Amino acid sequence: MLAEKRILLIIGGGIAAFKALDLIRRLRERGAAVTPVLTRAGAQFVTPLSVSALAGQKVFSDLFDLTDEAEMGHIELSRSADLVVVAPATADLMAKMATGLANDLASTLLLATDTQVLLAPAMNVRMWQHPATQRNLATLAGDGIRTVGPNEGDMACGEHGPGRMAEPLEIVTAIEAALGAGPLAGRRVIVTSGPTHEPIDPVRYIANRSSGAQGTAIARALAALGAQVVFVTGPASVPPPEGVEAVQVETAQQMLDAVNAALPADAAVFAAAVADWRVTGASDSKIKKSPGGGAPALDFAENPDILATVSALKAGRPALVVGFAAETDDVIANANAKRARKGCDWILANDVSPGTGIMGGAENAVTLITAEGAEDWPRMTKDEVARRLADRIAGALA
Ligand code: C5P
Repeated sequence: MLAEKRILLIIGGGIAAFKALDLIRRLRERGAAVTPVLTRAGAQFVTPLSVSALAGQKVFSDLFDLTDEAEMGHIELSRSADLVVVAPATADLMAKMATGLANDLASTLLLATDTQVLLAPAMNVRMWQHPATQRNLATLAGDGIRTVGPNEGDMACGEHGPGRMAEPLEIVTAIEAALGAGPLAGRRVIVTSGPTHEPIDPVRYIANRSSGAQGTAIARALAALGAQVVFVTGPASVPPPEGVEAVQVETAQQMLDAVNAALPADAAVFAAAVADWRVTGASDSKIKKSPGGGAPALDFAENPDILATVSALKAGRPALVVGFAAETDDVIANANAKRARKGCDWILANDVSPGTGIMGGAENAVTLITAEGAEDWPRMTKDEVARRLADRIAGALA
């Protein structure tokens, strides 16, 4: 909820400005007060009257409006909010922000503010992909400016690709996250992700295949709902998400130690592909290949099962423990059995048979198994799976 939160909403000039009207409505429904600022270009797309009617407040648009300056100077206006939101954030506004230009009310407010800023960029695909915009985006990220979107899809200009403004509800979620007001605010969640590497010697290891993409997406989605996320990751091929406490580990034992150190938590999601065995007596120096000497004999020991260990905790067990089951046959039966064996609350089961394209791919088709039964989710992107799971976790902890 956003009760008593004050949002300064800057509406830039783009066709997506019409979605800013819905955004105002959604924010007010949640109890936020919205002070709107409409740029000159923004006023070409939506009228000041509709903006002020929805916001229930006057619209600010001119830097040199003396009445406004007498009532509330632009410096005060820029600082009187809990969050400044720019939606749509045009290429022009982003460029002004990145260079520190202040030549109209919106850019002056953005330069004068000491409040957090969230941008919802919207522009033509080519403009978004232009090195200048990407350079500005990187500069703004470095300045601590948050962004939501843009999304990929059909654009009003007839092209297809990234550039569509995030939907109003996605922007609301980003606003809640920025203000620490999401449904998981105050909740602590541990997420494991990636493979583990079990050394044979300093240059060789055994591991499971895992990109870490699904675990990373889950950590990001939980953080977006306001959770404090401890992200314990093995050597994954995707970088950890922003806004989480990332703990980098290599072996299963280190992963268990990091999870134990991160407890207590309200929920834990074990998405890591942990190696089941480690090599006992791993060599401290590189095992030499001697001509005709044959292959070295390796001895294995079983690794601790992190999911089962945490699920079995008598004291300090998270209220919700979620495991994964990557299977190639009898997916549901195996996942059900795994849920019972590991003692976790939910299992997200997926078929990783060759040919599904799931391993290392962008999409996933999962079944959520709970005490109530199995629920098939349609095939969707790993980001969507993550958002849906995060919503379910928020519901379960509510
Ligand atoms: O037994 P299996 O590896 O198929 O179980 C998968 C689930 O158990 C995943 O959630 C995985 O993160 C977790 N797991 C674990 N520690 C292990 C092995 C698996 O946490 N040593």
